[in-house]
Amino acid sequence: MRAVVVYESMYGNTHHVANAIATGLGLGLGLDAQVVVVPVNAAIRETIERADLLVVGGPTHVHGMSRESTRQSAIETAHKPESELEIDPDAEGPGIRDWFETIDRFEGRAAAFDTRLDGPTLLTGRASKGIAHQLRKHGAALIADPESFLVTKDNHLEPAEDARARDWGSELARLTTAGVPASAGARSKTR
Ligand SMILES: Cc1cc2nc3c(=O)[nH]c(=O)nc-3n(C[C@H](O)[C@H](O)[C@H](O)COP(=O)(O)O)c2cc1C
Repeated sequence: MRAVVVYESMYGNTHHVANAIATGLGLGLGLDAQVVVVPVNAAIRETIERADLLVVGGPTHVHGMSRESTRQSAIETAHKPESELEIDPDAEGPGIRDWFETIDRFEGRAAAFDTRLDGPTLLTGRASKGIAHQLRKHGAALIADPESFLVTKDNHLEPAEDARARDWGSELARLTTAGVPASAGARSKTR
C-alpha cells in the first residue's frame, strides 16, 4: 500500500498538517505501507501514478485555492519588517491549482484538505472544495469529505488541529483498507 500526501504551504501550517495526516496514515496502514509527503513543487507525475491513496491539501487564499498573485502577496506580507511569519522552505513555485494542470488522470482513491481561518465557510471559503473538484475531474474516487484544519488570524495552527489531522489520516487509512466505494464523500460539508 502506498499513500502520497501532496501539499502546498506558504507559512508552514499546511505542511505541518500534511505531516500529521501522514503520521495518522502510517499508524492506520501499518508497517508494510509506504507513506510519503511531497511538496507540490516536487510532485512529479511519477510521484502519484502508483499511489493507492492520494491526499492533496493547500492553504485557502481568497476563498479558494491559491493563485500566483495571492502567493506573492503572502510572501510580501512575510517580508514586512513587523512580520514574524516564516516562509515554508518549499513555498516557491507552482501551487496546487497550477499543479492540477500538469498531471494526468488519477483513477485511484483520494481525499482533499485545506487550512483556513476559523469561521463560517460562507465567510472564509475553503480550498479543499476546489481541490476535491479537481481530484474528481482527474478521475479520482474521493473516499472522504473535504476537510479543513484551522489557523488563527496570526497564522498559527489552532491547538487541537494537529491531533485532529492525525486522526483524520488514520480514518483515511481505515476507509482505504475497508474498501469504501468510489464517490463516497463526493459532496462538501461545512467544516
Ligand atoms: C493572500 C492570502 C489570502 C487569504 N485568504 C483567505 C481566505 O479567503 N479565507 C481564509 O479562511 N483564509 C485566508 N487566508 C489565510 C490562509 O488560509 C492561511 O494563511 C493559511 O491557511 C496558512 O497556511 P500555510 O501556513 O500553509 O500557508 C489568506 C492568506 C493569504 C496570504
